[in-house]
Amino acid sequence: MLEGKLVNLRVAEKEDLPLIADWLNDLEFTGEYQGLRQLSKSDFEKNFGVEDKHELKEFIIEKKDGTKIGFIAHFYVLHIAGKLLEIGYDLIPNERGKGYCSEAVNIMVDYLFMSRDIMRIQAATDMRNLASQKVLEKVGFKKEGTLRKCGFVRGEWRDDYLYSILREEWKEPRILTKR
Ligand SMILES: CC(C)(COP(=O)(O)OP(=O)(O)OC[C@H]1O[C@@H](n2cnc3c(N)ncnc32)[C@H](O)[C@@H]1OP(=O)(O)O)[C@@H](O)C(=O)NCCC(=O)NCCS
Repeated sequence: MLEGKLVNLRVAEKEDLPLIADWLNDLEFTGEYQGLRQLSKSDFEKNFGVEDKHELKEFIIEKKDGTKIGFIAHFYVLHIAGKLLEIGYDLIPNERGKGYCSEAVNIMVDYLFMSRDIMRIQAATDMRNLASQKVLEKVGFKKEGTLRKCGFVRGEWRDDYLYSILREEWKEPRILTKR
């Protein structure tokens, strides 16, 4: 368990899959800037824990009272020069705007820089998704540029902004401690 002040991040277990599937199939949960992909619970179960090149790892975001309010994940984007570590996140609608996601991203950045010998963490978000951009900027990510027509969202090809934070910009843990 990775503990913050407002939320904790807990590695997703098989028992969490039905809830995650319900969330991801709910268009209010994924919001207006993400795709419409629908997957059955058995599809989620089939893919869970299967090691592939992306090495997707999901964490449930929980409030301090244990209420499950969303998830944050890290995965590799494959690149000719190596693997780029990327994060993604979603929160249930009635818990947005309370600082939970910003803390979850801060915890994840601490965790990834403290547990892996990596130089950068990146995130991509639809250029209209101002809440997501605000989260990344609050945590210290910098906008690198535009990924043109990279997301197919509700029948349209959309541009994303690519953000990243470098180890030297992170400097030291903000929420997790070294002890
Ligand atoms: C993006 C998302 C995860 C943010 O989670 P959150 O817990 O609401 O984020 P936080 O409360 O930590 O911070 C959001 C910030 O964006 C701001 N914000 C929210 N909507 C905004 C808007 N339309 N325009 C500008 N700023 C906005 C908030 O005021 C807040 O900033 P503040 O702390 O300075 O007041 C959440 O909105 C969500 O789940 N959206 C749907 C799914 C999604 O888009 N996921 C990300 C895909 S890249």
